Amino acid sequence: MSKSIEPAKTLGGYMGLQLFDGNPYYPNLIALNTARNSLEYILKIRGYNTIYLPFFTCEVLLEPIKKLGLACNFYKIDDQFNPLVNYVPAEKTCFLYTNYFGVKTNKVKQLAQSTQNLIIDNAQAFYAEPISGIDTFYSCRKFFGVPDGAYLYTSSKKRLQIDVDSSTDRFSHLIKAVDQNTEAGYEEFVRNDASLNDNEILEMSPITEKLLAGIDYEQCAEIRKRNFAYLHAQLSEFNEMKFDYTLEDVPMVYPFLINRTDLKEQLIRQRIFVATYWPNVFDWTPPGSTEYYLSEHIIPLPIDHRYQLEDMQYIINIIKSLLSPK
Ligand SMILES: Cc1ncc(COP(=O)(O)O)c(C=O)c1O
Repeated sequence: MSKSIEPAKTLGGYMGLQLFDGNPYYPNLIALNTARNSLEYILKIRGYNTIYLPFFTCEVLLEPIKKLGLACNFYKIDDQFNPLVNYVPAEKTCFLYTNYFGVKTNKVKQLAQSTQNLIIDNAQAFYAEPISGIDTFYSCRKFFGVPDGAYLYTSSKKRLQIDVDSSTDRFSHLIKAVDQNTEAGYEEFVRNDASLNDNEILEMSPITEKLLAGIDYEQCAEIRKRNFAYLHAQLSEFNEMKFDYTLEDVPMVYPFLINRTDLKEQLIRQRIFVATYWPNVFDWTPPGSTEYYLSEHIIPLPIDHRYQLEDMQYIINIIKSLLSPK
């Protein structure tokens, strides 16, 4: 939908989907279609020609890098998700760090003090406010029931002229999840998510914008924090990931890192659906590397607004029964 052919206002006729009025969480950020396109936006307005990217990230971030022909230096992280890199800053070179699972905000703050041309990927840390002067992007559907959408903070005053996205054909999985359940909509989720590949940079669609304006952000954050703390209290003794998260952090999931390859499969068999972050890391890094180990062994447990403490206890009971010797 191009801004230049905006249809005339209509009155009467049937009613559109009724949504709650409210405000977006980030009213002053640039609202775009996807996080990867937010990265493309930054790369374009800053004119970078080289990027440092972690091996441990999602492959879709390569889309803008390849499209714009940047040189890409992959860097390693340690087993606590901190960068291990000799970054040589230069005028047209940038360094991307991911706030992994939303529990690396302290590391982000440290890097912001010392790293030139830093870009923060907050796709997994929706609630982590941008730091003044540090280009930062967000991906909305990792935290909320929307089909797409992203926010971009940049201290640059440059703006790109872009059209507006339409999400009409990306809703079926969201509707099925409500009308039936998540499993029923899974195939469509995969298809709709894939339709986000290789799109141009667009403004966030009006429907996604409206949906995001109707969310009770405070409540969603409180539930996530409560569920995270509950899981951590009972699982931290088994968790190889030692967080330096603070009570301000609102994580995406509970990253449970454990040296057991069978656990994830067993949880999925019991219909606790946990993703792999990220399958491409198995192609990008050799077995035995930290990144390979993390991708294989992190079990990202759901903690979002859909769940009560009883659900957390249900997950804990299953994990503990799987961990106890038979
Ligand atoms: C860490 C991270 N950054 C960025 C992205 C890209 O987000 P989007 O799909 O909104 O482009 C993803 C996954 O999709 C991700 O996991």
